[in-house]
Amino acid sequence: MQKLIDKAKVEHTLSKSEIVEILKDNSLNDYLFKTADEIRKNYTGDEVYLRALIEFSNICRCDCKYCGIRRDNKNVSRYRLKKDEILKLADFAVQSGYKTIVLQSGEDMFFTAEYLAEIIKEIKQNDVAVTLSIGERTFDEYKILKEAGADRFLLRIETTDENLYKKMHPGMSFENRKRCLYDLKSLGFETGTGSLVGLPEQTVESLADDILFYKELNADMVGIGPLIVHPETPLKDEKNGDLILAIKVLALTRLLLPDINIPATTAMETLHPQGRIWALQAGANVIMPNVTFEKCRKNYEIYPDKVSVDYSKLERDLKQIGRTISKKHGFRGNSDSPLTRHFVPPSPAGRGKNNNIAKTLRKNVTPQELKFWNIVRNNKFQNLKFKRQYPIGKYIVDFVVIEKMLVIELDGGGHNTNNQQKYDEERTQYLTSRGFKILRFWNDEIDKNIEGVFEKISNVLQKKGE
Ligand code: 5AD
Repeated sequence: MQKLIDKAKVEHTLSKSEIVEILKDNSLNDYLFKTADEIRKNYTGDEVYLRALIEFSNICRCDCKYCGIRRDNKNVSRYRLKKDEILKLADFAVQSGYKTIVLQSGEDMFFTAEYLAEIIKEIKQNDVAVTLSIGERTFDEYKILKEAGADRFLLRIETTDENLYKKMHPGMSFENRKRCLYDLKSLGFETGTGSLVGLPEQTVESLADDILFYKELNADMVGIGPLIVHPETPLKDEKNGDLILAIKVLALTRLLLPDINIPATTAMETLHPQGRIWALQAGANVIMPNVTFEKCRKNYEIYPDKVSVDYSKLERDLKQIGRTISKKHGFRGNSDSPLTRHFVPPSPAGRGKNNNIAKTLRKNVTPQELKFWNIVRNNKFQNLKFKRQYPIGKYIVDFVVIEKMLVIELDGGGHNTNNQQKYDEERTQYLTSRGFKILRFWNDEIDKNIEGVFEKISNVLQKKGE
């Protein structure tokens, strides 16, 4: 199973059955978390992005079975903030240094797209990103919100098990939920989705589907949280979700979507005081502190005992794990990490596209590549497993020994042009920052001094082993 995790670390793909295998087996959890943490560091750096959350209305037309502010819960005191109250909170958040304001609410149709657009435009006078989390709307409404300046949108798919989705969301449609997400993507929102872990009858197979769905959508953000049973909902007699399983789903999401933003969710800390920190050490890079008025906050009880972020404690905790609070907006791909800048998200078809190129290249081998290949194939050289024309990120390398993180490139004459040199440099930087050592040989060396070539390879491997 370690091999599967290593593969995901390099290729950022896993099949459904591979994900299921990892989710079911708890013997390598620490290795999974450590690997996801490494990928997080490589792709998004050590900075943690804070997003200021404003819960501006707890009025909701939906009746989700797990949610404390569902329409049918009559024991909630409902509130709806006024425009200037929302702006006041946003202003407070801006003054406090937040670079993202998240406007979250139940599905409250009092807030038309036009009205929300006014609020968004005001907030966008400041140098901040605006994220919306207001549920399902039409394409045209989303378009108005985008044109008003909203940057991001959060809409969890909650579960990709269609039957379970129907049971949990009376009167709602799974198809429409997906339609919303694809509309948001097509409108250019940084789109966030995610799931609840621990819904009744939810299987690990469906959690694997959830992760593959994030990948298929090419989600820019993914929020995962364990279910926390609310006593005023139809799920009151169910069990809470499993925190470790939720963190595993998070870690796997990081492995498959290395450059995205992933929050350490409040639900995780609510289940365990260390929950948020564990998540931050297993792939998460975002925290969403609540800045809503105290008197409202207690009525926005989607689940009981929701904890708040204690800012100075957070600073201390982050410092202890070598992380800092970012002063940047934290868009996907904008971290200082060199990897992020070079990462091209895979096409929805996964790495299939690259693989086809790889196959084509395999057919057009140069004589030098063939000569090299004939020496190393079938573990013939030092019993190492060489692979040829192997896709790593957006690049395809000539040869690689994954277990040694060694890439070997054979260059013909074509690498001398300026453009090619720049491309090669980028490629080298990309591969180096992912932990690969790159050795380049000229075709000439292969032709005339193949012994020397393998001597160099031996030396490098020896040094790596020391
Ligand atoms: N426990 C945990 N998370 C919940 N959410 C709603 N109710 C609960 C609950 N009881 C989550 C949903 C929603 C997000 C805003 O809160 O996933 O998308």
